[in-house]
Amino acid sequence: MITVEKVSKVFKTKAGLVNGVENVSLSINKGEIYGIVGYSGAGKSTLLRCMNILERPTTGKVWIDGVDLLGLSSKELRGARQSIGMIFQGFYLVSSKTVFENVAFALKAAGVPKSKRKNRVLELLELVGLREKANDYPVQLSGGQKQRVSIARALANNPKVLLCDEATSALDPGTTKSILKLLKKINQELGITIVIITHEMEVVKEICNRCAVMQDGRVIEEGSTYEIFANPTEPLTKAFIQTVLSFELPAKLLDNCTGTLMRLQFRGDIAGEAVVSDMLQSFPVRGNILHGKVEYIGETPLGIFIMEMTGERTAIDKAVAYLKERVNQLEVIQHA
Ligand SMILES: Nc1ncnc2c1ncn2[C@@H]1O[C@H](COP(=O)(O)OP(=O)(O)OP(=O)(O)O)[C@@H](O)[C@H]1O
Ligand SMILES: [Mg+2]
Repeated sequence: MITVEKVSKVFKTKAGLVNGVENVSLSINKGEIYGIVGYSGAGKSTLLRCMNILERPTTGKVWIDGVDLLGLSSKELRGARQSIGMIFQGFYLVSSKTVFENVAFALKAAGVPKSKRKNRVLELLELVGLREKANDYPVQLSGGQKQRVSIARALANNPKVLLCDEATSALDPGTTKSILKLLKKINQELGITIVIITHEMEVVKEICNRCAVMQDGRVIEEGSTYEIFANPTEPLTKAFIQTVLSFELPAKLLDNCTGTLMRLQFRGDIAGEAVVSDMLQSFPVRGNILHGKVEYIGETPLGIFIMEMTGERTAIDKAVAYLKERVNQLEVIQHA
């Protein structure tokens, strides 16, 4: 649905040239929810703006739904943009217009006759759960409600793609969840392909099928969200994953720990308990699970356990080697 090929964006500033995006190629499938994560300045917004040519790439190509966007005249591009909705962290609602008028304005701008606007606006407000707020002004709305209005506005002209630039970054965790739920509904019910930029891995974990990690204008790692969580390779990706998957062991517990401490990770398709009990039957060691949790990456579970193992060092080494063969990941945190 979206193909970005070798896109670079160089900004000319007084201080010299700045690389916003460097040689990025990505392919986003129809119906997918795709995440782009990275720290501030990584080039996420620039890349997103290159996808609808709000920013003209310095080099490279962009196709949306088979259309080569850089090959279009400005008039054709304005038309093509109607199939690409966009929402932002800051909502950008017109404060002097009501909720209804904010949404209706997008239809007016696209040349939809007045007689057809009303029903469409009400339908959109129904979709985002704000039917009863139609006559309110933005100032009367919460952040989550404002984002719902901006989503309704972005969907007004039936886009095929919705680009979201930090759409939940200004919202509290509960409101973030409800907006993500709405985006998922829009994706599933309307079949809209969604690209989400975020610096929160939690957002990616919650709804993205695939994701890319950006650093210094480049995509440094890319893949299915589950693979990225289960097997991150780049240090930055690991740091992002840690924000979701790590847990602190209480200091008291660590102080009292006399054995070898390890962190085991099980993929959804491995029964963790059975592997541990097989290991305990095969080797003269004792294993004590100190901590554990299962994270759902989308629909798929990823289990993480902290285990303390005691016994002879040689037996422990053999047991660890055995486990390494059977679990997704094993990291010895500290030896006895
Ligand atoms: N219009 C511009 N003129 C000059 N430099 C720019 C411009 N827009 C972006 N940049 C630079 O390009 C780089 C990438 O910026 P971008 O806004 O895409 O990052 P980002 O990942 O979206 O960051 P954030 O998380 O803070 O929004 C930065 O170094 C930024 O300073
Ligand atoms: Mg940005």
